[in-house]
Amino acid sequence: MSASMLELNNLSVRFGGNEVLIGMNYCAKPGFNGLIGPNGAGKTTVFNTITGYVMPHAGGGALDGHPLPLGKPIASARLGIRRTFQTPKLVAELSVLSNVLIGVDATLAGLRGVAEFFGVSGLQKATHQRALDLLRDFGLQGDANKPVSSLSLGTQKVVEVLRALVSRPRVLLLDEPAAGLSAVDVDQLVEPLARRGQDEGLIVVIIEHDLELVSRLCSRVAAMHFGRIVAEGTPSEVLAHPEVVKSYIGGRVAAEAE
Ligand SMILES: Nc1ncnc2c1ncn2[C@@H]1O[C@H](COP(=O)(O)OP(=O)(O)OP(=O)(O)O)[C@@H](O)[C@H]1O
Ligand SMILES: [Mg+2]
Repeated sequence: MSASMLELNNLSVRFGGNEVLIGMNYCAKPGFNGLIGPNGAGKTTVFNTITGYVMPHAGGGALDGHPLPLGKPIASARLGIRRTFQTPKLVAELSVLSNVLIGVDATLAGLRGVAEFFGVSGLQKATHQRALDLLRDFGLQGDANKPVSSLSLGTQKVVEVLRALVSRPRVLLLDEPAAGLSAVDVDQLVEPLARRGQDEGLIVVIIEHDLELVSRLCSRVAAMHFGRIVAEGTPSEVLAHPEVVKSYIGGRVAAEAE
């Protein structure tokens, strides 16, 4: 079986006269792929483009050789691409379990076979079971029926990841999952995710400013600055790269010292 791959080719995005992504070439494989860079570098715009919310003016990409459906969020989801947001976007008045089940669409990639084989009620059973399995794996079985708004930010971020995972995506895009979380919350999120991700051959792209976490999780990292990738490689290679030190890490060290 050939390994799964998400690729971006010459991806270019502009908002008015502002060039936000400039001919970006990128490749992510199963496992954790880090995407780092200073505020405004264009990281979230990469996710918005992959998921079809932002239309590039040039270039495109592919998942396992299938062209990304540019500008089409539903078609992107059907290809197996899911994401989380910098600030969780959940339905506050619904329960944890209902929020996870929102991620299910009978026509989505990983579940289509189940629907064809077992029919819709079989699909409902299978997805309900998958949601419960995910809640258990991530330590939230006791919270399934609580309103999601009653939970901490850390737990809400886990719920958002489970909503993305419930439909068995091929690609999971995480936008700053550790922001605002304690070290314990981060472990509650990433440890079970690493296990699931490995079992399911998931490509995870993780935007994160917590560089210790990036170094710990990711085998490959790409660093962006002003809409371009300025360094790619292992975490230690990228974090020591002169362009990355100059554009990102130097500024952070100076800001932390103030
Ligand atoms: N919808 C939009 N319309 C206009 N400009 C936008 C839009 N989305 C992003 N931008 C601009 O594009 C640039 C890149 O923004 P983006 O949110 O991708 O950065 P980022 O790397 O995710 O930054 P951060 O680390 O602060 O989240 C910024 O200058 C931002 O103001
Ligand atoms: Mg961002």
